[in-house]
Amino acid sequence: MTLPAHQPQYDDLIRRLGARLGPAGLLTDEADMAPFAIDWRRLFPGRPACVVRPSSTAEVAEVVRLCAEAGATLVPQGGNTGLAGGAVPDGSATQVVLSLARMTTIRGIDPVGLTLTAEAGCVLKVAQDAAEAAGRLLPVSFAAEGSALVGGVIATNAGGINVVRYGMTRGLVLGLEVVLADGTVVDGLRALRKDNAGYDWKQLFIGTEGTLGIVTAAVLRLVPRPRHGATALLAVPDPAAALRLFTLAQEEIGDSIQAFELISGTSLGLVERHAGLKSPVGQAGWSVLIEAASSLSGLREAMEGVLGTALEREDATDGVLAESGRQAAELWALREHVTECEAREGKSVKHDVSVPITAIPAFLDEAGRVLAAGAPGTRVNAFGHMGDGNIHYNVLIGPEHSSEAINALVHGVVDRYSGSISAEHGIGQYRVAELARHRHPDEMALARRIKAALDPEGILNPGKVLARDEETRAG
Ligand code: FAD
Ligand code: MLT
Ligand code: ZN
Repeated sequence: MTLPAHQPQYDDLIRRLGARLGPAGLLTDEADMAPFAIDWRRLFPGRPACVVRPSSTAEVAEVVRLCAEAGATLVPQGGNTGLAGGAVPDGSATQVVLSLARMTTIRGIDPVGLTLTAEAGCVLKVAQDAAEAAGRLLPVSFAAEGSALVGGVIATNAGGINVVRYGMTRGLVLGLEVVLADGTVVDGLRALRKDNAGYDWKQLFIGTEGTLGIVTAAVLRLVPRPRHGATALLAVPDPAAALRLFTLAQEEIGDSIQAFELISGTSLGLVERHAGLKSPVGQAGWSVLIEAASSLSGLREAMEGVLGTALEREDATDGVLAESGRQAAELWALREHVTECEAREGKSVKHDVSVPITAIPAFLDEAGRVLAAGAPGTRVNAFGHMGDGNIHYNVLIGPEHSSEAINALVHGVVDRYSGSISAEHGIGQYRVAELARHRHPDEMALARRIKAALDPEGILNPGKVLARDEETRAG
């Protein structure tokens, strides 16, 4: 049944949006809007006034202008795979969801200059494949890459498995095209490696989750594609051994390490239960997945050396080195299914934390003790990007547990190690209160001044990153 979702005061706006965008660019039917109204984790169900799907930068600008005139707020949305509830509207039926999914064009690839220019709605995997077809590598990679869109990846400054070598998305964005809150299109699609001419304003839109502007296109940096790869899974007795293994790998193959991931026995147990995938090195304790890549020969032998030394030193109890691309993909499948299998297991409280790499064993130990004492009956699903100091310290809970109390326990430990409460997923609406608690008031005040300067009417993604009443209050 079709229900009139929006509030009547938006009738005129919706008519004007429809006239500008045509039938393919506007959704108002409740069933059609349903996938845009709730986040991947299904934690934040919302209700949009309508969903707009512009197909060009000019249409995005026009949508923003029309919404600004009508005083309607906008929620930019990419692939809606974000884990912090940033891309979905609230329940008021007054917010316009702005989906970038129809802006899919790859505008060009320069294999010599190592750049790829894509519109915001290009699926990350499609951009990766285009880079591969040109013999190059777009190194940002994570389990949701088949659904996440380039604009969303930039707006969240996504991390993923290759950060240890290539850095976060921010470091891969050379140029940006954005639409500001008043509908101005700013074209900064420069493909330059070096550009110190004035403010590097594009940084304002990278990782700010659609609260300061709409990303419509970007020039991304590519890297040479390494010819050889080596992927190994090792069982390690504990996180301290994993850290020693990281040090060894840095010394032996440091310039080739592409990923260094820590996976707990609990994570592998979930993957076996819900995806039927079994680790070849067993599931007890902890495991480390290492990927190295290089265009020079001898990588496999070097990786064998790392495995041999780790076994000899008893920092690993078992290990396999993939014999083929297919086996490497099987090892990666164990890691990449963790998030999905955690969701199937039931309710969890996610903590996307970072601490100094050397503090990871102590952090895991202390957080485990604090939770056992403060929230008995919870189970910890810890895994993540150890090479970046980024652990997904996700806590599986029952109905008797309070998310806020668990947050406070875990983030209290993060503070003791001078860590961050969001290493890569962002704040969205999931961590708004936590951000204000864990960042200095001066930093929060600066954030509000930036928001007020760029979006004085507060029409872009209100309530995300900053609490609503704080958004436009300067200073
Ligand atoms: P969305 O979810 O649609 O949006 C995310 C935020 O960006 C929202 O605030 C939205 O308003 C804003 N936004 C979207 N598009 C635009 C735009 N064009 N302009 C302005 N603002 C915009 N993340 C990591 O960093 N590392 C991981 O390893 C990782 N693994 C994941 C694994 C799984 C299984 C899943 C489901 C998610 C994972 N994520 C990871 C989180 C998520 O995939 C990333 O944050 C991704 O970058 C979001 O892209 P998206 O297109 O889905 O954005
Ligand atoms: C991942 O690295 O797989 C995701 O970022 C983690 C998560 O689900 O917490
Ligand atoms: Zn991650």
